[in-house]
Amino acid sequence: MWNMKETQERERRFREKDTPFGEFTVKTKTKWWNIIHLRNVYDFLGIKKCEYVLDLGCSDGRFLEYVNAKKNGCVLFGLDFARNPLKRLLTKNFRSYPVCADMCRMPFKGGSFDRVAVIQALQQIPSREERISILKNVGNLMKERGSLVLTVLNQKSWCNLVENGKEGPLVTSPDIYEYLYDPCDLREEIEAAGLAVLAVKGINNIPVRYLKKTGYFGVFFDLMISRLFTGVSLKRGRYLLAICRKK
Ligand SMILES: C[S@@+](CC[C@H](N)C(=O)[O-])C[C@H]1O[C@@H](n2cnc3c(N)ncnc32)[C@H](O)[C@@H]1O
Repeated sequence: MWNMKETQERERRFREKDTPFGEFTVKTKTKWWNIIHLRNVYDFLGIKKCEYVLDLGCSDGRFLEYVNAKKNGCVLFGLDFARNPLKRLLTKNFRSYPVCADMCRMPFKGGSFDRVAVIQALQQIPSREERISILKNVGNLMKERGSLVLTVLNQKSWCNLVENGKEGPLVTSPDIYEYLYDPCDLREEIEAAGLAVLAVKGINNIPVRYLKKTGYFGVFFDLMISRLFTGVSLKRGRYLLAICRKK
């Protein structure tokens, strides 16, 4: 329905001049909010020492930076089709391997990675077939005991973002296409790609304005809601997080 090439090219051009995603989100008012997001992805990936980690749609690499800060000796790869955010990643004070490529055509050999994170990037691919094909390829890239963690916008929390409440250009930024997932279609697309879904959870349950006042306590409380009250988190969480393995 959406012209894949045109929609993605518009997004790529937008991302070339986008506000540094990491700076906007980690260093400013949404610091705690982002710590919750990155901590959830890190924990559910189950990253161990010296593993190969790939962040698909990494932008300027805020997740890779987070993994690096854990000092676990992991080898960090980030892929994005926008060149400028990757250049910013290169200026950061840690070693990573940025790859400028389209995630629909990934330039890696099968079985290369222990852990793959796709943080708010799959939702921007404007075709169900392409999203499933990307997930299939991710499955091939993963080692036998590897894991994949995906985060996407939760349709329940963001339905005003696009005109029909499900998919299309953002009302506030028409260069960006978003597909708004609910837990069922997220699970369904992952399974159609031949991967096993271990769990789908909601994350980022507490609004930013409360987190600013509560700091670490709020972070702890938010992480607990996602872990202990999955039903509540699927309704309240701003994002959905899926934990996947190879079958
Ligand atoms: C919402 S941003 C998220 C960035 C990053 N994952 C984070 O959380 O900080 C989505 C990213 O996906 C990238 N992206 C979208 N479609 C892509 C594609 N087909 N191939 C590679 N990167 C893509 C965009 O350039 C953008 O940097």
